[in-house]
Amino acid sequence: MSTNEQKALWATGAAGWVANEAIYDSVYAPVTAAVLGAADLRPQTTILDVGCGTGTLVQAASHAGSSATGIDISPAMVEAAKNRVPQAEIVLGDAQDENLNALPGAPFQRVISRFGVMFFPDPVAAFSNLRLATSTGGRLVFACWRGLSENTIFTAGLERLTERVAQPAAPVSPGAPGPVAFADPDLLRGILDDSGWQQISIEALDFVCDFGALNGTDGVEERLAVVLGGPRARHARAELEPVLGPAGWNDLVEQIRQDLRAARDPGTGTLRVPAAVWLVQAVNR
Ligand SMILES: C[S@@+](CC[C@H](N)C(=O)[O-])C[C@H]1O[C@@H](n2cnc3c(N)ncnc32)[C@H](O)[C@@H]1O
Repeated sequence: MSTNEQKALWATGAAGWVANEAIYDSVYAPVTAAVLGAADLRPQTTILDVGCGTGTLVQAASHAGSSATGIDISPAMVEAAKNRVPQAEIVLGDAQDENLNALPGAPFQRVISRFGVMFFPDPVAAFSNLRLATSTGGRLVFACWRGLSENTIFTAGLERLTERVAQPAAPVSPGAPGPVAFADPDLLRGILDDSGWQQISIEALDFVCDFGALNGTDGVEERLAVVLGGPRARHARAELEPVLGPAGWNDLVEQIRQDLRAARDPGTGTLRVPAAVWLVQAVNR
C-alpha cells in the first residue's frame, strides 16, 4: 500500500478511532503501561510519539514532565491530539519521509509508539528516518501486534459482516503495511537492523482487551462501537445498508450484538478478548 493510500485510509479511518478514543485507551491500557515503563521517561526527556493518533502517549509523557512531540499522517487524529494535549507539539506529517530533525525537540532521546509504526510502505526507510532524528544513545520503544491467530481482536464481532459482503475490505496480512506487518519477529529484527538500530529486543507481551473496564459494564456496547467504527464494518455497511435498508442493517447489528453477548466470559460476565503484541526496544549508537 502506497503512502497516499495510507493517508487516504487514515484520513477516513480516524473517525472511528477518535470517537472511541476512551474505549481504545481503556482496552489498550496494559500496552500503554508497557511502552511507557520501558521508555523510562524523566522530566525534560525529549520524546517523539510516532503515529500518535489522538495523543495518548504524548499526554502521558507530557504529564511525566517530558518534552513531547507527536507526529501523525491523519488530519483528524492531529486535531484530536492537539485538543487533548495543547501544551505538546503535534505535527501533521509522514514519519517515513518527513525531515524529523526539523521538529521541535529533535534529536529525540526517546522515539515511542503504540501501534503507530506498522503502516510504512518502506519500513527500512522509515526506521532509518526515525533513527536519524534520535540522539546518540537515544532509544526506540514501541508496541506492535503479533500474528492474526493470536489476535482474534481483528475478527471478533466481524464474522457476520465479512460473510455477507461480496467484496470484503482488503484483509490484514502479515508482512504487508497494516496492523500485523511485524507479526514475524525475524522480519522485524531484520528491518530494524537494516535501519541501523542496535541492541534490538523483541519481547512478547500477552494481555486481555477488557471491554467492560471503562464503564463497569459487560463491554458488549463498547466492543460493538469499536467494531462498527472500524474500516471493515464501515466498508461492509456501505455495501449492505443500501441493499438491506436501514431496518435490515439494524437487524444485522442486533445479531452482532447477540454474538458479542454470547462471547462474554462466563466467569466475569464481561467481554474479554486475549491479545498478543511485541514490545520492541532498540538503541541508536
Ligand atoms: C492504530 S493507530 C494508533 C494511534 C495511537 N498511537 C494510539 O495508540 O492510540 C495508527 C496511527 O498511525 C498513523 N500513521 C499511519 N501511517 C503513518 C505515517 N506514515 N506517519 C505518521 N503516522 C502514521 C495513523 O494515522 C494512526 O493515527
